[in-house]
Amino acid sequence: MDRYLVFGHPVRHSKSPFIHTLFARQTQQELEYGLAEPAVDEFAQTLRAFFAQGGKGCNVTVPFKEQAFTLVDRLSPRAKRAGAVNTIKLTDDGVLLGDNTDGAGLVADLKSHGVTLADSRILLLGAGGAARGTLAPLLAELPSELVIANRTHTKAQQLAAEFCDLGPVTAQTYEQLAGPFDLVINSTSASLQGALPPLAPALIHTDIAIYDMMYGASDTAFISWAKQHGARQTMDGLGMLVEQAAEAFTVWRGIRPGTKQVLRELKRNLGVI
Ligand code: ATR
Repeated sequence: MDRYLVFGHPVRHSKSPFIHTLFARQTQQELEYGLAEPAVDEFAQTLRAFFAQGGKGCNVTVPFKEQAFTLVDRLSPRAKRAGAVNTIKLTDDGVLLGDNTDGAGLVADLKSHGVTLADSRILLLGAGGAARGTLAPLLAELPSELVIANRTHTKAQQLAAEFCDLGPVTAQTYEQLAGPFDLVINSTSASLQGALPPLAPALIHTDIAIYDMMYGASDTAFISWAKQHGARQTMDGLGMLVEQAAEAFTVWRGIRPGTKQVLRELKRNLGVI
């Protein structure tokens, strides 16, 4: 049976096996999908061993995405732009192809929530790996403006400079931000510490869409805060998780699974509904 894995550390709580098992059932593909949690300095050898023993493909999550970028034989254009790999496929001619489906997953999830990206003003909070992976797919949707704000402003400036050939992207400090924005995407890891990015409450209005790339059984700190300040449309990263997985499944198997039912079952599994 074709074997797939997700590599991460820690990875025990990963929902990827759950999601891919449902995709496989739905599309009648025979495969098994497991977890691998190598020590941080043993990722490269564990990855090589997996493919040497017949593995067909894998997902890669924190903290291995940048390392995976350097270990594959070939990169997709979107992985090259993202500087990180979250999906690896062993091609029929024995090449390890590195891809990145995170940004496509975000855009697909935003669209499934009815968020219009064309001609919109987007504010992206954070300038780490998660932000980097979303920039090219977001700019491809032709927003009128994409502003990056980050605690460490120089990192936002570097990112804006790197992607400005693809569209109207600029960097501003949190203090400089002037609304109205149509969509705010939180790619910071602040919610992990229960903290908030230092965003002025005045930037939140009733028609704004709020997206937190984090998720949990209850509202993230950022989503609670945005609701308190009047945001009506809030979304967490669970949908992005399912959509990036669907994109990875499509890369591996050449067949696109449906995501709606799987997202519903995942929510049930997490106790969200
Ligand atoms: P990831 O790969 O998830 O993006 P990362 O590369 O470590 O992780 O980036 C984390 C991002 O969250 C950074 O933009 C970080 O800001 P700095 O560049 O200033 O470190 C941001 N971040 C983390 N905690 C934050 C907080 N409490 N407030 C605001 N931004 C925060």
